[in-house]
Amino acid sequence: MSRKILVTGGAGFIGSNFIHYLAEKHPQDEIINLDKLTYAGNLDNLKGIADRPNYRFVRGDIADLELVDGLFQEGLDVAVNFAAETHVDRSIGDPDDFIRTDIYGTYTLLEAARRHGVGCFVQISTDEVYGSVEEGFSNERDPLMPRNPYAASKAGADRLAYSYFATYDLPVIITRASNNFGPYQYPEKVIPLFVTNALDSIPLPLYGDGLNVRDWLFVRDHCSAIDLLISRGEKGETYNIGGGNLLTNRELTARILEFLQLPETLIRRVRDREGHDRRYALDSSKLKKLGWEPEADFAAELETTIAWYRDNRWWWEKIKSGEFKEYYKKQYGNR
Ligand code: NAD
Ligand code: TYD
Repeated sequence: MSRKILVTGGAGFIGSNFIHYLAEKHPQDEIINLDKLTYAGNLDNLKGIADRPNYRFVRGDIADLELVDGLFQEGLDVAVNFAAETHVDRSIGDPDDFIRTDIYGTYTLLEAARRHGVGCFVQISTDEVYGSVEEGFSNERDPLMPRNPYAASKAGADRLAYSYFATYDLPVIITRASNNFGPYQYPEKVIPLFVTNALDSIPLPLYGDGLNVRDWLFVRDHCSAIDLLISRGEKGETYNIGGGNLLTNRELTARILEFLQLPETLIRRVRDREGHDRRYALDSSKLKKLGWEPEADFAAELETTIAWYRDNRWWWEKIKSGEFKEYYKKQYGNR
């Protein structure tokens, strides 16, 4: 069966991986990729996809109601909303775009979906909506306690999407994934930043005491979970998607340096992130009951990911010598 699927933010890290995943698993699907191409959007992430006859790229803003309305008017089986401003540090410096894209943009998509209907609307949320979880594991009924503007904007979108199910019966599913890793991740995020810095002998700026914990999920396992939820998820429900690989930033950094055979003297302890969430940890049993299991062997996929950045300088050197340069100077210059 062929489906018509709108993927927003499909030129970003997870969205592009999801499009590659769909192209491989469901080659008959028609994919529309709506992306504004902000600093984080990159058509290089979609190598081999652009020429497919059933793929279409639309450059545009999810907050543009007229544009979005036109796309839903075509009749969509599925919409998956990845488009967002996503970097916590940038949200601390300037929250404006986060409110506009993550909240207002999601509203616009939901409104167009309400007008024209859609078979399934997946809102990609995040584990960060639970806030810092000092112990135990968050489940979907836990309170949302976001602690930075990024997480708060995602929490707003998350509940707004739910409200369209409760109020208008829109077939919405909400996912809350943990930290993803894999190829095509913008090098402002910790793994690609540390790997690419290390490869260029630039110090790795480790925040605070480096004991913050994240739950790492290989991006392909995130894609398989979304794929499963589109076909088997219950509408109106929220699903955690956790990799189950909890690591402190120190441990993560040590593994990166060990794989690259570089010394720990490259680590530079820098001033902590404001309001830095100490720990995220997800209970994914609700999703597992539908038959999902992460397939990735964490240690092996971390290594293939590090190796991917090592072997694909063409991809990240362009980025690091462009917009990123100014950002990095501003962000780390005063730490
Ligand atoms: P990313 O920053 O790599 O990509 C975001 C994409 O959205 C970019 O291509 C960008 O151009 C596009 N975009 C931004 N504003 C837009 C707008 N107004 N209109 C259209 N396109 C716009 O982000 P990512 O890491 O791939 O994250 C994707 C989604 O997954 C986000 O919703 C994020 O909150 C969520 N998420 C990410 C993680 C993670 O670890 N990266 C974990 C859980 C959830
Ligand atoms: P990040 O990749 O920004 O993801 P998130 O904030 O969404 O979890 O950061 C992951 C962890 O790495 C987080 O605890 C902050 C830390 N970190 C550093 O120590 N140094 C850095 O330069 C960055 C970007 C992050």
